[in-house]
Amino acid sequence: MPPNGPAPDPYRIWLSEVMLQQTTVAAVKAYFLRFTTIWPTVQALAAAPDAQVMGEWAGLGYYARARNLLACARAVADLGGFPETRAGLSALPGIGPYTSAAIAAIAFDRPETVVDGNVERVVSRLFAVQTPLPRAKPELVALAETLTPRQRPGDYAQAMMDLGATICTPRRPVCALCPVNAHCDARAQGIAADLPLKTPK
Ligand code: ADE
Repeated sequence: MPPNGPAPDPYRIWLSEVMLQQTTVAAVKAYFLRFTTIWPTVQALAAAPDAQVMGEWAGLGYYARARNLLACARAVADLGGFPETRAGLSALPGIGPYTSAAIAAIAFDRPETVVDGNVERVVSRLFAVQTPLPRAKPELVALAETLTPRQRPGDYAQAMMDLGATICTPRRPVCALCPVNAHCDARAQGIAADLPLKTPK
């Protein structure tokens, strides 16, 4: 169990991560509350009629995600619960490299490195990476891996995402409030707001 409170419910972590793929926290909030009220457990969701789940999903978009959500809930119910490793999670419908790492780290406190767009930005600034995205991705993952701690990797993963969402923001990072500003190469060079560089589309 993490030192900061009760163990997170893997069902709720999984549901939120799937909903948050390509959708903002603000847009997801009401859907997450409704889903977890109607279906408080993965077993309950697994037993739901397809049409009811699709109906509740309406408005979130990307309907393949809702189909995968149900397929995944049913697979997890058949397994008797969520796999606790990244490899086990990756075998489930709709769970890619990002989501498997996020669930393993946040729900099971495994030392997996979670890299989403927010974390890419934080890491590119900490190390002043000048390689443009998307080419920089493998480099950013490798650098992120060097930072992942053995202790409380789940809290660490969530903290990196929150840092990117609230302080290390794309346009006007609030470096003065950043808890790791003393370690930031981009800030030292005065180029935090310019990173990550991006190859023009
Ligand atoms: N977006 C996707 N997953 C997230 C998380 N765990 N925290 C904040 N934003 C997210």
